[in-house]
Amino acid sequence: MVAARITVNGKETPISPAAPHTTVLDFLRERGLTGTKESCAEGECGACSVLVARPGVNKPTDWVAVNACLVPVAALDGQEVITSEGLATAGESGTPAALHPVQEEMAVRGGSQCGYCTPGFICSMASEYYRPDRCAHPDPADATTTGTGTGTEHGPNGFDLHALSGNLCRCTGYRPIRDAAFAVGMPTEDDPLAQRREQAPPEPVPTAYTRGESAFLRLSTLADALQLLRERTDAVVVAGSTDWGVEVNIRSRRANCVVAVDRLPELREIRVESDRIEIGAALTLTEIERRLDGSVLLLAELFPQFASRLIRNSATLGGNLGTGSPIGDSPPVLLALEASVVLADADGEREVPLSDYFTGYRQSVRRPGELIRAVRIPLPLSPVAAFHKIAKRRFDDISSVAVAFALDIEDGIVRKARIGLGGVAATPIRALATEAALEGKPWAAQTVEAAAQVLQAQGTPMDDHRASAGYRSAMLGQSLLKLYAQTTEAVSS
Ligand code: FES
Ligand code: FES
Repeated sequence: MVAARITVNGKETPISPAAPHTTVLDFLRERGLTGTKESCAEGECGACSVLVARPGVNKPTDWVAVNACLVPVAALDGQEVITSEGLATAGESGTPAALHPVQEEMAVRGGSQCGYCTPGFICSMASEYYRPDRCAHPDPADATTTGTGTGTEHGPNGFDLHALSGNLCRCTGYRPIRDAAFAVGMPTEDDPLAQRREQAPPEPVPTAYTRGESAFLRLSTLADALQLLRERTDAVVVAGSTDWGVEVNIRSRRANCVVAVDRLPELREIRVESDRIEIGAALTLTEIERRLDGSVLLLAELFPQFASRLIRNSATLGGNLGTGSPIGDSPPVLLALEASVVLADADGEREVPLSDYFTGYRQSVRRPGELIRAVRIPLPLSPVAAFHKIAKRRFDDISSVAVAFALDIEDGIVRKARIGLGGVAATPIRALATEAALEGKPWAAQTVEAAAQVLQAQGTPMDDHRASAGYRSAMLGQSLLKLYAQTTEAVSS
């Protein structure tokens, strides 16, 4: 096996002697690339953003911005990374000779003051600058959050401001940063990073990176990974490391064996069949969002509200279900969609309805040695769908309460209701009593008000620093009233 190495700004660099838990951020800074900054070390500020060459959705390669503070450098064995230093064109002496167009716009429009956040903004902006389907002359009618439209969150250059939702600035203020984002043009034909998109990204390479007692392992096939998980029951499984990275940085957790599954081909497919959609557990949320392109309305509502673009570029459905958090944002949506989870181990697969998957606080029916391979969503989808996330911030925040609705309403009657809740119990739950209160009844104010009372009493919400139990209950009821108002507005408009 070739020694682990990573290509940074075009230069191949051995990963050794970094420890298996060393993050990309620390690795870069220890090698003098100090443009990449640490602020929160938990994926919330974007100061550490760098670009990674990943399989593209519309071209062979996408330049994807990720939080370098969360990703172990060993996870990028064989991969290509660009930092803010690498975006500028190198002069003959090796010093930057010309700013990148994104850097230029940030400089001339006053997008940087103390500069601490700036390299992170630059990398997130550059990722959006190179997004192949960013359109210089967007259709105003197509103002979607996935980035092809205009609207207040899209520039006339098609720049999707959601690309910056994971970057915080504490002194410049966001208006000049937005001005810079909306002023960048399209990459020129001789732009080397634009040209790089036309070739395939580096293949994932098998990795066995060991220092002392601890190891970071990447296997080539699902069968090999499952065999390893059978033998190493102490292994920590990671995909995007958005959760594990926080454990390592903030809680100083270490593992003797970390197994990466994010590039296993068997976990990276989307299959649309006549009666279901199967989504690979290791596809990133951004990949799912762009590949499904709004075809699953509830998921399209979920993604813009799920953390930030930086997180969605690494986070996976498998990870969000695997951690079993009662405030994960995907479980309420997947419960409303009546999804099931495909669990695989070395003996084979089994399919478990998501409603039976969670068994307690951060616990599930997943056995040691089992891996979430895919999520299945039955078809047809219910046409009335909404995801309401109640949080203190609009983006990049954790839910106080999350409610997902999927309703079939025919001739004014609720034929089917599925409602998923997060943040009101030790696990994500279905609001079964509310579903029963709606089904077979007219979709009318009287029914909805009565059902909202039922919904308000569902779960066992608690008081914590995010919200009181009373507030959480009140928000459940309001959520159904809001959905009713939205549907009746849509009918009358
Ligand atoms: Fe804040 Fe990485 S340092 S997101
Ligand atoms: Fe100072 Fe953004 S320029 S934090």
